[in-house]
Amino acid sequence: MDIDAYSDYFVCSGCGHETPSDVFCTFCSRCHEPFTLESRSPARVFHWNKKGLFKRFGEFLPLDMMEPSADLGTGGTPLVPLTAVADKYGLPPLYAKMESAEPTGSFKDRGTAVAVQKALDLGIPAIGTVSTGNMAASTAAYGARAGLKTVVLVKEDTSEDKIKAAGIFGASMVRVRGDYGALFRKSLELGRKHGIWFMNSVDPFRIEGYKTLSFEIYDDLSEKPPEYVCVPVSAGGHLTGLIKGFEVLKRTGLTEAFPRMIGVQAAGCSPIVQAFRGGESHITRFNHPKTIAHAISNPDPPAGRLILKKMREHGGEMTAVTDAQILQAQRDLASLEGIFCQPASATTLAGWIRFTQSHPVDRSSQCVLVITGSGLKTVDLVDSNALFIKDSDLNELDSLFMDI
Ligand SMILES: Cc1ncc(COP(=O)(O)O)c(C=O)c1O
Ligand SMILES: [Zn+2]
Repeated sequence: MDIDAYSDYFVCSGCGHETPSDVFCTFCSRCHEPFTLESRSPARVFHWNKKGLFKRFGEFLPLDMMEPSADLGTGGTPLVPLTAVADKYGLPPLYAKMESAEPTGSFKDRGTAVAVQKALDLGIPAIGTVSTGNMAASTAAYGARAGLKTVVLVKEDTSEDKIKAAGIFGASMVRVRGDYGALFRKSLELGRKHGIWFMNSVDPFRIEGYKTLSFEIYDDLSEKPPEYVCVPVSAGGHLTGLIKGFEVLKRTGLTEAFPRMIGVQAAGCSPIVQAFRGGESHITRFNHPKTIAHAISNPDPPAGRLILKKMREHGGEMTAVTDAQILQAQRDLASLEGIFCQPASATTLAGWIRFTQSHPVDRSSQCVLVITGSGLKTVDLVDSNALFIKDSDLNELDSLFMDI
């Protein structure tokens, strides 16, 4: 097949095999590594002064047409300075990119928004995903908005709240017994058979959407990338997209700089950190994952090898943080900055503190923490013993105010 006929095509991140893009075949049949999307399109331009993800960055997205009514207002999230947290820990200028402010409360929306546009573009009537949380709600919401039939496969022990949060959008939810990794692979196989595009965590079109976060960070910081970006890593799709975004900025000549990417995992499930530190080029499955940061506890990350390669190529760093450090960071962000994020997202602050304790960091270096998801989705994980909660009768309230 003549791949030159296609402006966008897949390249295998493992063996380099090139093939026309196919949303139903997103892993290489030769080496089983994920494909990434590359483009032959000539020069493209950013439209910084326009509003909305698609108008601003549309030329960098793999779409022949766009259906604005199918979007929910993706992107354009705030970048806020974290002065109080920086003061407490003696850190250089620190910012939070608030992906928790996306339409369904997580960064997943950037990827889903682009993939759903592609589904409409290709006339695919049904989409799906395998997820226990953020990606399920995101896919179900955008699927509903676009009028696509949506299937969400979850683990059998997924909490009723998480099922409701995605099911409310009208998606068909299926609780599946069995191994989660096997379910991921099975979903792709069944999707191919039944014409349902399973836009899972490392889908190449999803990753294209994540690129736009890097574009926005560059723009938010007055057209310059920060020196450091901290991001939680699980399957590896999000970080792959962020790296791609900064590569694009460099390639288009907008900047010479490339931020030092710091990928953070929970110590209780850190297969990529272990492989990175051990100098390995492949991932060993992490046995018995146990962490409060459920959203990032993938023991066998499908883009793990790709992350190892890309992080080494760009001088990135991988670090792991304990649940105690994660919970402290979550409380700091909430009580000092007014930002309530998920434990998975709080790993960024915990990871950055850890990194600065063991590496020299210039006092003028800027660091952006990607706050990937809203804490409102994981209220059940907050330890109320660590909060200031008292009970009082109405007529004793006055005396209680002495101690507040
Ligand atoms: C809140 C949150 N942060 C970070 C991640 C990690 O993203 P990825 O799996 O693409 O590495 C996830 C994944 O589900 C997540 O839900
Ligand atoms: Zn391959």
